[in-house]
Amino acid sequence: MGLAVNVLERLRTAFGAVTPEGGDADAFKSAVRATNDPKFGDYQANGCMALAKSLKINPRVLASQVADAVDLEPLAGPPEIAGPGFLNVRLHDAWMARSLADLLGASFPGIVPPAQPRTVVIDFSSPNVAKPMHVGHIRSTVIGNSLARIFKALGHHVIRDNHLGDWGSQFGMILWGWKNARDEAAFAADPVAELARLYRLAQDRIKTGDQSVEVAARVETAKLHAGDAENRALWNQFMPHCLQALRKIYDRLGVRFDVELGESFYDPMLASVVEDVSARGIAEESEGAIVVFTAETSAPFIIRKRDGAFNYGTTDLATIKYRAATWNPQQILYVVDHRQGDHFRQLFAVARRWGYDQVDLEHVAFGTILGADRRPFKTREGDAVGLESLLDEAVSEARKVVDANSPDLDQEARARVAEVVGLGAIKYADLSQNRLSDYVFDWQKMLAMNGNTATYLQYAYARIQSIFSKGEIDPRTLRKQPPELVLNHPAERGLGVRILRLPEVLELAAAELKPNILTDYLFDLANAFSTFFEECPVLKAESTSRRDSRLAICDLTAQTLKFGLELLGIEVIDRM
Ligand code: ARG
Repeated sequence: MGLAVNVLERLRTAFGAVTPEGGDADAFKSAVRATNDPKFGDYQANGCMALAKSLKINPRVLASQVADAVDLEPLAGPPEIAGPGFLNVRLHDAWMARSLADLLGASFPGIVPPAQPRTVVIDFSSPNVAKPMHVGHIRSTVIGNSLARIFKALGHHVIRDNHLGDWGSQFGMILWGWKNARDEAAFAADPVAELARLYRLAQDRIKTGDQSVEVAARVETAKLHAGDAENRALWNQFMPHCLQALRKIYDRLGVRFDVELGESFYDPMLASVVEDVSARGIAEESEGAIVVFTAETSAPFIIRKRDGAFNYGTTDLATIKYRAATWNPQQILYVVDHRQGDHFRQLFAVARRWGYDQVDLEHVAFGTILGADRRPFKTREGDAVGLESLLDEAVSEARKVVDANSPDLDQEARARVAEVVGLGAIKYADLSQNRLSDYVFDWQKMLAMNGNTATYLQYAYARIQSIFSKGEIDPRTLRKQPPELVLNHPAERGLGVRILRLPEVLELAAAELKPNILTDYLFDLANAFSTFFEECPVLKAESTSRRDSRLAICDLTAQTLKFGLELLGIEVIDRM
């Protein structure tokens, strides 16, 4: 089976092979891309120019060496050398038609399982429990969830780990609140709300400069860690409620984990981590604390504080050790706010010195969600925006769009559509950003019917379903016996090229750890479909065979949209 467009891969390998000593093969490789203008073929590489310049050789000569080194058959003929040294590749139409029929027949999505599947631990969401989830938690949760799905789809072994912050100072604050200001009736009625109130109370007192509360809360945390019976019992009483509140949100978002090993799980291992790191001469004593100096930052990495307490860093070291021993992963991804960049740079440096230099540790950082005023997104009162109410608001905003656009749906159907559209809009708005940038939270933009939104893609999907229902055709019959595909019209061919690129796009998204590579692709696919739909009659095509070919392209587009959205954690619906 000649499936799997791996043009990028083949060209890059050829680049690597001909790159002379001193040439930057990586820079070279990154200069290969799919084109959007068919004038330049389906793929174009412009890497020869920059490299040739730095090597002081003729770029066209270099381009022809690459062209000689690459064999693109049966996908495409030799690259064409254009202009000052571009390489243009055009896929063979016959190969495309055959491959598309294959995809439709059985092989969708056309991903070739990796020769050596990797084990990847993805540490994501990982909220500090005991306070309600807020808007800041959405990024790690949806980005991590999407990366997990993409890696899994590519055939890797994924462990989704929710590294809950269930052992930190916020519990000290709650314990202080519980002992000094609890309302038992309120706790009985809504435990999480009462715990949140106590947390806020302690936090407010501390913020307004009440040092006695700060000290008292710290003492409560220390007692909890030291095994104080009362505090442990309270912790055991509070935790299930905290977890249940989280679960509700995860269920609604369609997010699940393989393990949820919070910070408390690692507590018994911390002393031996410090001992071991010290015994190997990696850590040293400094002003009463045990620290590791790294080249990453001027401040040392503290693994035991002066008062003997272990901290976030100690826990993260224990976690690496546990993960390595338990799953032996090739890669561990930490989907965490960019502000923790220094922490992770230090952590990784220490872990490498500690012997974990075979596992690829990566901080998948992301930026901040901003309000309309371009400051971090807050409520009018200045609090963090609660995640649950935000999801409710998404659904009610989506309902307005659905009411305006789908008057023929009944109430129940509209409610269902609004849920899928609303949640999809929030997730997609987040995933479609380059994760490192900050972005402004804007309902109108994220629910736009035209634009790079989930709504636009969901409508494109539903539009294709309506073609099938209008024609009273079941796409499954088409899949059972794929018709011959005709790609004579540029819009047919344009759509076909994109459908075939899906596996390649997923590889790129996984390599760069960027779901927005997938959203850009889906948006481009939906645009190509829209052009096709305007220019190529489907049910009224000039012949039955052309009609069937076009229906096949429609079905593949729909399958690709659905599959791609699924990898983003977003659902589709047939009628909108
Ligand atoms: N609980 C932390 C926070 O809310 C995030 C934990 C990320 N994972 C980790 N292994 N450090 O900031």
